[in-house]
Amino acid sequence: MIPGDGIGREVIPEACKVLRAMAEASRRKFDFVEFDWGAEKFLSEGVTLPAGAVEMLRNDFDAILFGALGDPRVPSNKHAADILLGLRFKLDLFVNARPVELLDPRLTPLRDRGERDIRMMIFRENTEGLYVGVGGIFKKGTPDEVAVQEDVNTRKGVERIIRYAFDYARRKGLKRVCMSDKSNALTFAHDLWQRVFAEVRKEYAEIEWRHLYIDTLAMEMVRDPGQFDVIVTCNLFGDIVSDLGAQLAGGLGLAPSGNINPESTSLFEPVHGSAPNIAGKGIANPLGAVLASAMMVEHLGWTANAENLRQAVRAALRENRVTPDLGGNLSTRELGDWLADQVAGQRAAQA
Ligand code: NAD
Ligand code: IPM
Ligand code: MN
Repeated sequence: MIPGDGIGREVIPEACKVLRAMAEASRRKFDFVEFDWGAEKFLSEGVTLPAGAVEMLRNDFDAILFGALGDPRVPSNKHAADILLGLRFKLDLFVNARPVELLDPRLTPLRDRGERDIRMMIFRENTEGLYVGVGGIFKKGTPDEVAVQEDVNTRKGVERIIRYAFDYARRKGLKRVCMSDKSNALTFAHDLWQRVFAEVRKEYAEIEWRHLYIDTLAMEMVRDPGQFDVIVTCNLFGDIVSDLGAQLAGGLGLAPSGNINPESTSLFEPVHGSAPNIAGKGIANPLGAVLASAMMVEHLGWTANAENLRQAVRAALRENRVTPDLGGNLSTRELGDWLADQVAGQRAAQA
């Protein structure tokens, strides 16, 4: 567990509470180890990602449950770059899986759209692109200042995320994969995406492929979200359209994600950030963190448990047991307690 900063420290304890209830109800065993990596530690000790952390996580842990990083006292966001992007890069978590799923029809801001329309998986490339930190600033603070940020795309990196998207569609019996880029303007980097996509899709003849420029994808996701099953895109565009998708399904408070390396320790987190505007008030929505926990549990192979967690979330939404962002009046902790009770009660249902 890496709760991190801001509301990460409020939602992760609730997710853990629910996971503990789940474990007890199903006689699973969980060992949680908590790490205090984040802004506080950085400000007091100068440490972001401690030495040896990556090897330790890779060797000693099955999964990572992560809150959020970001603190107004660290405007450079250096600690988030080192810890969150550091783990994504160093654990080679090349898949960022961000499901968009409307769990209750009342939650979408779109008129006349329901659960069948708003159900898609966004695969965001998670180890390259504009996030790699290649570039620099020249003549800083002068009128002649130059800032360069390189967009790094490798053949291997592009191929493995596109292939992962097609494999996922095949595994889940989904029919449509849409690749989105900006190859009309980014004529080098996204030309590579075009060529790799054209090659890889040939191996998946039963799956309908499609390409949309990213600006059009954003528009189409709002106009008619039902046309998408699987979307695959680069790191930056995936960041943006996953927030858009989150809002289609009820908002950032509900959206989960998995940072996955199919062969190593993976990291699960809500899509939202540390929300300094509400941090410390005890009103953050813990459902995104609980749904991220469900993704984690499923990734560990406990499919029925994952479904139990999702059922508890659905029940909370149905019964309006929610935090203020969704129009309710429960606190983060009250909702966590309620979910834990639900999950504990599922034992009776199973027995
Ligand atoms: P944010 O996701 O923190 O907040 C955006 C808006 O959504 C805010 O109004 C916030 O109150 C609301 N919100 C988010 N999560 C919520 C929840 N669980 N319950 C209720 N409301 C919720 O994005 P931001 O404000 O752009 O960024 C704040 C900080 O978080 C920045 O430092 C940013 O870099 C960081 N951030 C971190 C991550 C991460 O760690 N994965 C993700 C996004 C942003
Ligand atoms: C996310 C966040 C991060 C990202 C930030 C905090 C660097 O927005 O996980 O979506 O852009 O990947
Ligand atoms: Mn984001």
